Amino acid sequence: MLRIKNLVAGYGRASVLRDVSVDVEVGGLTTVLGPNGAGKSTLMRSISGVVKASHGSIEFQGERLDRLEAHEIVRRGVVHVPEGRQIFPDLTVAEHLQLGAIAAGRPSSRPDVEEFIFNMFPRLKERRRQTAGTLSGGEQQMLAFGRALMAEPKLLLLDEPSMGLAPVLVEQMLEVVRQLIRDRGLTVLLVEQNTRLAMALSNIVYVLENGAIAFSGTRDEAKSSSVIQDLYLGVKSKG
Ligand SMILES: Nc1ncnc2c1ncn2[C@@H]1O[C@H](COP(=O)(O)OP(=O)(O)O)[C@@H](O)[C@H]1O
Ligand SMILES: [Mg+2]
Repeated sequence: MLRIKNLVAGYGRASVLRDVSVDVEVGGLTTVLGPNGAGKSTLMRSISGVVKASHGSIEFQGERLDRLEAHEIVRRGVVHVPEGRQIFPDLTVAEHLQLGAIAAGRPSSRPDVEEFIFNMFPRLKERRRQTAGTLSGGEQQMLAFGRALMAEPKLLLLDEPSMGLAPVLVEQMLEVVRQLIRDRGLTVLLVEQNTRLAMALSNIVYVLENGAIAFSGTRDEAKSSSVIQDLYLGVKSKG
């Protein structure tokens, strides 16, 4: 579904990603694990067109994404839930959801999709007229997630959704991801530092270290890999 080949990308003249190749198959969950500073968010930004590739290619359903602008990429069904949520404090919950639909090129929210999101996250429904700045961190993460779902993604890019969330909320969010994959045929690319979380969910695991792929394999292969064991123990971090 998504095929990243020999990607080199970064900021200005400094390359962060060095020859990164990642394949995401339709209908499952692929995780890119890596310590802080490894380039995970840069990889997500490259896919969503915010960071431009200087070498290599990114193909989605046979089309080159790396030649498209960010707004065109969302319309292809590739939707990014950025790190740190990127919520607008003065806009309401309902307005955020509407923005998700607009980003995907739809003039307004589809009521059935909104209904689906409110069913998954009843807290958002209760707070639909509240401004996002007044929400808790967990609620803001749900909102970022809901906004992305309003764009009706085929491929959802999740950048460290567990960051700053209480374990019970992480569990709840994971359950929603599982449901979407199972019932709606969604495909998910997740980047995480949280090894346990990734291992609980993923079909395929990659490890990114210092901008390069250090491991790729199935979850079972990953479990017995020394690269992953090192990450578990946290012995590999940048610097
Ligand atoms: N906007 C930016 N401008 C310049 N350098 C950046 C920017 N964002 C990230 N970097 C650098 O790119 C490297 C990888 O960062 P990032 O992709 O955010 O890693 P991760 O998400 O794995 O923690 C880091 O060295 C970071 O300092
Ligand atoms: Mg990051």
